[in-house]
Amino acid sequence: MPDPVDPAIVKKAEELRSALHRHNYRYYVLDDPEISDAEYDRLMQALIKLERDYPALVSPDSPTARVGAPPLAKFDTIAHTLPMLSLDNGFSDADILEFDNRVKRFLKTQEEIIYTAEPKMDGVAVELVYENGRLITGATRGDGRTGEVITANLRTIASVPFLIQTDYLPTIPSRLEVRGEVFIGIEVFQQLNQERVEQNLPPFANPRNAAAGSLRQLDSKITAQRPLEIFFYGVGIITDYAFHTHWALLQALKGWGFRINPLIRPQITIRQALEYYRALMAMRHSLSYDIDGMVIKVDSLPRQRQMGATTRSPRWAIAYKFQALQETTVLENIEVQVGRTGVLTPVACLRPVQVGGVVVSRATLHNEDEIAKKDIRIGDTVLVQRAGDVIPEVVKVVVSGRVGTEMQFKMPSNCPVCGSSVVRLEGEAATRCINSRCSAQIKERIKHFASKGAFDIDGLGDKLVDQLVGRGFLRSYADLFDLDEQTLAGLERMGPKSAANLKKALESSKSISWARFLYALGIRHVGEHVAALLASCFQNLEELMHCPAAELEAVEGVGPVVAESIVNFFNQESNRQAIKQLLAGGVQIELEASKKTGRLAGKVFVLTGTLQGFTRRQAQEMIAAAGGKVGGAVSRNTDFVVVGDSPGSKLDRARNLGVEIIDETMFREMLGLRPELPEKGG
Ligand code: IVH
Repeated sequence: MPDPVDPAIVKKAEELRSALHRHNYRYYVLDDPEISDAEYDRLMQALIKLERDYPALVSPDSPTARVGAPPLAKFDTIAHTLPMLSLDNGFSDADILEFDNRVKRFLKTQEEIIYTAEPKMDGVAVELVYENGRLITGATRGDGRTGEVITANLRTIASVPFLIQTDYLPTIPSRLEVRGEVFIGIEVFQQLNQERVEQNLPPFANPRNAAAGSLRQLDSKITAQRPLEIFFYGVGIITDYAFHTHWALLQALKGWGFRINPLIRPQITIRQALEYYRALMAMRHSLSYDIDGMVIKVDSLPRQRQMGATTRSPRWAIAYKFQALQETTVLENIEVQVGRTGVLTPVACLRPVQVGGVVVSRATLHNEDEIAKKDIRIGDTVLVQRAGDVIPEVVKVVVSGRVGTEMQFKMPSNCPVCGSSVVRLEGEAATRCINSRCSAQIKERIKHFASKGAFDIDGLGDKLVDQLVGRGFLRSYADLFDLDEQTLAGLERMGPKSAANLKKALESSKSISWARFLYALGIRHVGEHVAALLASCFQNLEELMHCPAAELEAVEGVGPVVAESIVNFFNQESNRQAIKQLLAGGVQIELEASKKTGRLAGKVFVLTGTLQGFTRRQAQEMIAAAGGKVGGAVSRNTDFVVVGDSPGSKLDRARNLGVEIIDETMFREMLGLRPELPEKGG
């Protein structure tokens, strides 16, 4: 027999437990914590210590008992007292209005039906059984009649109460079977997958799979490391109570300590439910968890009983599903595309399939490694995903769908367009065609040059570019401005009018801002953002073309790879030639733009003392390039005085006039430069 524990210690442990239960409730159920996370951790640590020092205090209902139990050999199964049914699905407003009519017909009423609508959580359905207020078992839905007992796993979920709370509704049902959906937050899911990839484990396809996989662990200590969550949405058996509405039931559950989704819309008409559906769809992507639709339930519980269920689903509820963002289809072929910089991108040609309301027939496969990692073969059945406006991608292969005739993909050893050999540099995932005269590259470079963020040439579509390059009228973007109307008018699907329009568009695009011009050149790694940075730091093209890599790297946002790429670009004779041709053809770079839009636009600087990172001339040029002015003497019009080592009398004058004084670090920051690295040992 262990020694009896000092009553004062027992009391202390009880106080800690009840405080932790209460704070858990405030945090997870009410979403209104009273104490900080740190304070909560301190209370928890205190309880853990007490239970460690006095093992006799350990209890299965203690808030410390969320760390998992000894591993199981297999899961037991358990029969649900009442079957856990599925839901009927609707996919359009018409389906939902038809459901509403069915309900009215069944209830023999013309009157408006009151519903409660809830987000449909995309997770795993579970049932928890409480006897006299204590959690006894927890199980999966299974086949609806019997599920697997996963009590230890469910007990690791912080928002699953061990004990029913009695502060709000003092009578505890002697038996309560409460049902809900276990899920994993999107951020946690992404982090988990990242860890798995680092450990060479296959990533989960989506948060639902991650939640299911985490919940079905024989070792609940693993489950305990996965921050699962739960929302409760209904009950099986509940004794001692006869609620009149579903909403009242949910309120009672909340009072007892069960987490209810705060987005639930209680007691609304079918029209309001349809509006709510649209609201949910709009917020879908900003929620921290996945939902796949809305569930509409007849709110009156007597009416629910009156309507009953089929063997599959209740007649009083329907799920209004969102369009799926993932679908399976067959990958019929893999094509290789050649991009602007020569990168060969394998593209999946898919049997067309609706994903999220859009027909998808192609998806990027990124590169060779990606295909090998996912073991994607031609002929495979694959899971395809589309998220927002991004390019569809293949999530994974449905391996069970393989029949043995699938074929491995091999990256070609020659460019599929120009036939020259391709290279894959060490440490790079990309395979490249190194022939800069490859017609695919030329076409893509021209399309980029004409695109919105660059020269924005109206009427120069992809098809036209293909034709112009294919027929030898364009060898580079520099030839664009030399095209004559006659040539254009003679092309397929062109006539004198569209030729004249295009020529006009070409003419008016000739005057272009410095940043857009830089972007249009198509220098590898120089996107719109980097182009804008460079444009604000360099006065003109001449200056940038002659800038060594080391100096380029001083620009915040420009690393060694980008710097090298810029230097390489300007080192190539063909590129210098193209630029010459553009300028000779009348392209006007509007350097003036930086005077108005540069980061230092309109500001007057005076320099005094020696700067570490710049010569005086460089500093002056940087200010000018960013749209600022450099003054010789400090006056009331001076905005900033930049002070280096051993400053002169300008500093005193700045002080007297109250002009803002900045040091070199501040100055660099204003220019958008990285702070100078500190000296070694400094
Ligand atoms: S009520 C008898 N409410 O959807 C009706 N289900 O396809 C029981 N689900 O197995 C379900 N969110 O896993 C209900 N707010 C919600 C739900 C929800 C998600 C799941 C649940 C069920 C499946 C039915």
